[in-house]
Amino acid sequence: MLLKQKQLDIQTHINALLDKKISELSDHAPILKSAMSYSLLNGGKRMRPFLVYTVGSMLGVKKSDLDYPALAVEFVHCYSLIHDDLPAMDDDDMRRGKPTCHIKFDEATAILAGDALQTLAFDVLAHADLSTTAAASQLKLLQLLSQASGYSGMCGGQAMDLAATNHNISQQRLQQLHELKTGALIRVSVMMAAALSDNIQDSDWQTLEKYSQALGLAFQVQDDILDVVGESSVLGKPQGSDQAHNKSTYPALLGLQGAKDYLADLHRQALHALDALPYNTELLRLFTDYNVQRNH
Ligand code: IPE
Ligand code: IPE
Ligand code: MG
Ligand code: MG
Ligand code: MG
Repeated sequence: MLLKQKQLDIQTHINALLDKKISELSDHAPILKSAMSYSLLNGGKRMRPFLVYTVGSMLGVKKSDLDYPALAVEFVHCYSLIHDDLPAMDDDDMRRGKPTCHIKFDEATAILAGDALQTLAFDVLAHADLSTTAAASQLKLLQLLSQASGYSGMCGGQAMDLAATNHNISQQRLQQLHELKTGALIRVSVMMAAALSDNIQDSDWQTLEKYSQALGLAFQVQDDILDVVGESSVLGKPQGSDQAHNKSTYPALLGLQGAKDYLADLHRQALHALDALPYNTELLRLFTDYNVQRNH
């Protein structure tokens, strides 16, 4: 109940901010603007903003400072989904229960919508009107998000994902692939919130790194499992897409039960990491549980 209410509150808050940000753009390229808005404002779970606000408020960071990284990470995430669905990548027709961006518009528009959402993320951080204490962390936010988004993060992971399609890879390589393509943006959601805290201890920073790494990997393992056991109507995206495209996933490598066991192990690791934090971690724990129980 506590978790559900918080998730709804954060969704309502971030959806309004995302909408405002897009509405403020001028109208010189109306189709591109519609495509950005279409893919952004269509019922995503907003798990990355949830992490930004929950970790930030646990550490005593002002909500108004957290708005910037929350917006920025959701912009990058949404761009990554638009490009992930393109025919050149996963070639999927449905996302968040609606036709994917390139189906609703066209491929060129979908590529540009992704590009423009990505740059908007960095624009938001570069122009952030942070409070005096938080302002010292502005460059750090830019460094963290650019690292997590590019070659050393999501893009590098997506390249590994494409290279691993139709191939068998080791568990070690699959872990790296998942940590980069998905884990990096989950991890950075936690770490940008931590970067805005003006008095975080090194040991707590390291603990949050450990926590977010386990959570980020668990997130993609659950996504892989849901591709096998979920339902398209609930997922809002085509069930079975991974198998149809012969993707390297945890169920493909370890079998469904093996993937579930591994997920349970990562879940324990994430909760165990939280034990070391001298803060009230109740909401984060509930969220960590939700991640392994979610059906979409
Ligand atoms: C889906 O992410 C893509 C992955 C990185 C696994 P989400 O499951 O967070 O998607 P939305 O934002 O709720 O649609
Ligand atoms: C998504 O991995 C990773 C990124 C979008 C960066 P998937 O390809 O498994 O995500 P879904 O299942 O299409 O949401
Ligand atoms: Mg993919
Ligand atoms: Mg995909
Ligand atoms: Mg998937």
